[in-house]
Amino acid sequence: MRTSAHVSTCVFLTCFLTKANGNAEDVNVTCQYSEDCLLPCSFTPSGEDEVRWFKQDVQIYPQTPNMENYRASVSVPELSLGNASILLRRCNLNDRGRYRCQVTKKERTDYSFVTLRVEAPIRFVDIQMTRLSGYEEVMCSTSDVYPHPYISWSTDSATPSETLKYTTRIKSDNKGLYSVESKLKKLVNQNSLTYVCTINSSSADQMWTASLSERVHNNVTITSKLETVSTWSQINSSEGQNLTIPCRSPWNLGNFTLTWSFRRADMSSKISTYDSRTQRISNHWNGTALLEPRFLQAGDGSLRLLGAQSLEHTGEFTCNISALQRNCVGHTRVTITAPGPENKDLKTKSHTPLWIPVTVVLATILITVAVIVAITKLQNKFRQTAGAGTARYSREVKVSVNKSEEITEGSHLNPDPTKEGNT
Ligand SMILES: *[C@@H]1O[C@H](CO)[C@@H](O)[C@H](O)[C@H]1NC(C)=O
Ligand SMILES: *[C@@H]1O[C@H](CO)[C@@H](O)[C@H](O)[C@H]1NC(C)=O
Ligand SMILES: *[C@@H]1O[C@H](CO)[C@@H](O)[C@H](O)[C@H]1NC(C)=O
Ligand SMILES: *[C@@H]1O[C@H](CO)[C@@H](O)[C@H](O)[C@H]1NC(C)=O
Ligand SMILES: *[C@@H]1O[C@H](CO)[C@@H](O)[C@H](O)[C@H]1NC(C)=O
Ligand SMILES: *[C@@H]1O[C@H](CO)[C@@H](O)[C@H](O)[C@H]1NC(C)=O
Ligand SMILES: *[C@@H]1O[C@H](CO)[C@@H](O)[C@H](O)[C@H]1NC(C)=O
Ligand SMILES: *[C@@H]1O[C@H](CO)[C@@H](O)[C@H](O)[C@H]1NC(C)=O
Ligand SMILES: *[C@@H]1O[C@H](CO)[C@@H](O)[C@H](O)[C@H]1NC(C)=O
Repeated sequence: MRTSAHVSTCVFLTCFLTKANGNAEDVNVTCQYSEDCLLPCSFTPSGEDEVRWFKQDVQIYPQTPNMENYRASVSVPELSLGNASILLRRCNLNDRGRYRCQVTKKERTDYSFVTLRVEAPIRFVDIQMTRLSGYEEVMCSTSDVYPHPYISWSTDSATPSETLKYTTRIKSDNKGLYSVESKLKKLVNQNSLTYVCTINSSSADQMWTASLSERVHNNVTITSKLETVSTWSQINSSEGQNLTIPCRSPWNLGNFTLTWSFRRADMSSKISTYDSRTQRISNHWNGTALLEPRFLQAGDGSLRLLGAQSLEHTGEFTCNISALQRNCVGHTRVTITAPGPENKDLKTKSHTPLWIPVTVVLATILITVAVIVAITKLQNKFRQTAGAGTARYSREVKVSVNKSEEITEGSHLNPDPTKEGNT
């Protein structure tokens, strides 16, 4: 009687819980230090939703009286469209952590998690000669970086690395940002040597080098410097879309040349070139790739790729901005996915409309289960039939949860398992 119905409900809830937990993967967001940062959260609006945001169990939205001036806001017009994304202004290292977006409507609470990382990328590397310690030294430094960068030295000739003697100091300031300073003793009897300082970001997506060489010419010492920066990034897109592959120099350059090239497993090709002196663009991929003249004049060499194709355009795009003593190279790994058999496009574009039928199905099944439980209680003599009925429905629940699992990847809300357990 009672027991059989109870057991069936538990089977159904256990199945539901496991599925929901397996599905509740955090969305990872990385923001740049001191920039505004958007943490995504979306839900199906019902007109009576209550949205709350928590950072490690401390409510940050709506603001509580003891948290005035907190830099977080949710757009009210967006909220009515089911967009509960929260904007953190001028994010800093204390903003790192796990956030929970919680939407309550009637007795149901949905939630999703966002994990925020904050990075302060390397913005410059300085190299110079110093005699402050009494020795002739080459000093290399950078500051305001997070997480802490790695520094290493080399020379243009094959100097064994153990003959290079240097000391490196890393400091972190009260905001948590790192400064690095490394001093290398000049090698004696090696006058026209080039010293190269390399600073890598800890995420391995940036490598800066600064090199310094001294030459004595007619009793005058000539020092020359060369700076390069290389970056690595990834873009994923789907077939037929237009996309912009960024390429920006961290410096304000005078005259420069820009070259875009492409490499795939077994072939490589030049896409286009630009010379700021003549303002001439030569494009070998016309119709497919284009450079925007007004951006180029402002020093932005980003490439626009039109109607990307999975076979032709999956590969590495490289831009090379070259100027006097400065060189900037950006590597972007582009992956274009062809539409899959079950139409991935629709899934990413219209989360919400697909979420509605799933919710409706779940709600219907919940009501049905409740009705069956009630019937079981009232009609003891039919307990066998009712038990079988519940079991059958629990299988259907499992199917629809599987569906929602596919749709809710990323920033979507998952039903709160603890709440479900209480109903
Ligand atoms: C987010 O990062 C965590 C830990 O690195 C990882 O387990 C999880 O799969 C990531 N989530 C997504 C959606 O990539
Ligand atoms: C959600 O709203 C924010 C503003 O709060 C906006 O920047 C963002 O693009 C919106 N997201 C979507 C998916 O519409
Ligand atoms: C870091 O710097 C070293 C040079 O010291 C270089 O060989 C290495 O490839 C760099 N690693 C990354 C991930 O940039
Ligand atoms: C180099 O300069 C020093 C002092 O400035 C002078 O004494 C010396 O004669 C100069 N040598 C040559 C080759 O010009
Ligand atoms: C792009 O897809 C690859 C796997 O194909 C994944 O490892 C990577 O994290 C994705 N990058 C972005 C920016 O989504
Ligand atoms: C791509 O850009 C071209 C030219 O700017 C435009 O005609 C086309 O509609 C765009 N396609 C998509 C999918 O946005
Ligand atoms: C750029 O090139 C032009 C023409 O060659 C030259 O006149 C100008 O001085 C250069 N500008 C810089 C900043 O080097
Ligand atoms: C690309 O442009 C050149 C001249 O600018 C033209 O001769 C060539 O036919 C064009 N190719 C395509 C595929 O449009
Ligand atoms: C970038 O271009 C400059 C000038 O053409 C060249 O010296 C340098 O080797 C190039 N760098 C890469 C990584 O291709």
